[in-house]
Amino acid sequence: MTTDTASAIAHPNIALIKYWGNKDQKLRIPVNGSISFNLDSLFTKTKVTFDFSFQSDSLSINEQEISGPGLDRVVSFLDIVRGLAEKQLFARVESENNFPVGTGIASSASAFAALSLSASKAIGLSLTEKELSRLARRGSGSACRSIPEGFVEWFPGESDSNSYAQSIATPNHWNLVDIIAVVSIEHKKVGSTTGHELANSSPLQNARVRDTDHRLQIVRKAILEQDFLKMAEMVEMDSNIMHAVMMTSNPPLMYWESISITIMKTVKEWRAAGIPVCYTLDAGPNVHVITTKGYSDKIISMLPEIKGIKTIYKASVGGKTRLVED
Ligand code: DP6
Repeated sequence: MTTDTASAIAHPNIALIKYWGNKDQKLRIPVNGSISFNLDSLFTKTKVTFDFSFQSDSLSINEQEISGPGLDRVVSFLDIVRGLAEKQLFARVESENNFPVGTGIASSASAFAALSLSASKAIGLSLTEKELSRLARRGSGSACRSIPEGFVEWFPGESDSNSYAQSIATPNHWNLVDIIAVVSIEHKKVGSTTGHELANSSPLQNARVRDTDHRLQIVRKAILEQDFLKMAEMVEMDSNIMHAVMMTSNPPLMYWESISITIMKTVKEWRAAGIPVCYTLDAGPNVHVITTKGYSDKIISMLPEIKGIKTIYKASVGGKTRLVED
């Protein structure tokens, strides 16, 4: 047999304590640990086929052929998989997202998590969850957190062998919901990979990193004890401190739009009024509004009062990256 195929599904994740900056940029060994949960209603499905007759790697995303930097990143990743398997075979990668590309929702985490499992399986490897997480990390740091289920912690480690993510609680441990207020669908001007490289140019990055273990400890405990208020304050603080680093790097990265600030302030008012809700923002202006299942419909009905929100996505805590039938 000359063809080997496998398909996998992975969810994106939202970080409650963020990854920003690497000790080793090439291997994506982060300067600090991070905690996230997977987003169940959003997913990337990727099919990988290795075949002796292929002359080069090729990639399609949502049925569009991809070339240039997007393909280069996947080829570099496939080189790692080929190295592990000690096989020189080219691949056809067909990927689809159930959320439209260009909505401002990061897809690199789910993309590289799904690719890790489908490519490693298709080439004949049988990796453990830890090995898969390490492999996904090489494609996109945050992808290592999409491999295990539910609430996940990425232990930063010192080298390739000990930088990986592990589940700290199952999806049904706590019924949190992420309501994503999409305020801009513009492609971000400076992506995360460049942002990580700039982190050290901010005089605030050292202070942020020095305090991260404290924030991780509080959020980990708050998740395990389902203590929303304790979690909320640290999640907002962590998002703010990462954006403070971004805004003070050289060149400065200003991801917030004025509507992002309006949503953040409104969320704080709702919490002051007794609703379990908090905000967090990644490398973009869209606001992730975190709440519990019982309040999610209420938040979704209140958010449109803020004019300028383009779309709203809703996701509960999701499962791990898994193989699927084609
Ligand atoms: C702000 O994982 O997208 O979303 O490793 O270069 O692919 P690369 O970066 P990426 O960075 C994510 C940054 C973040 C915070 C987070 O998800 O922890």
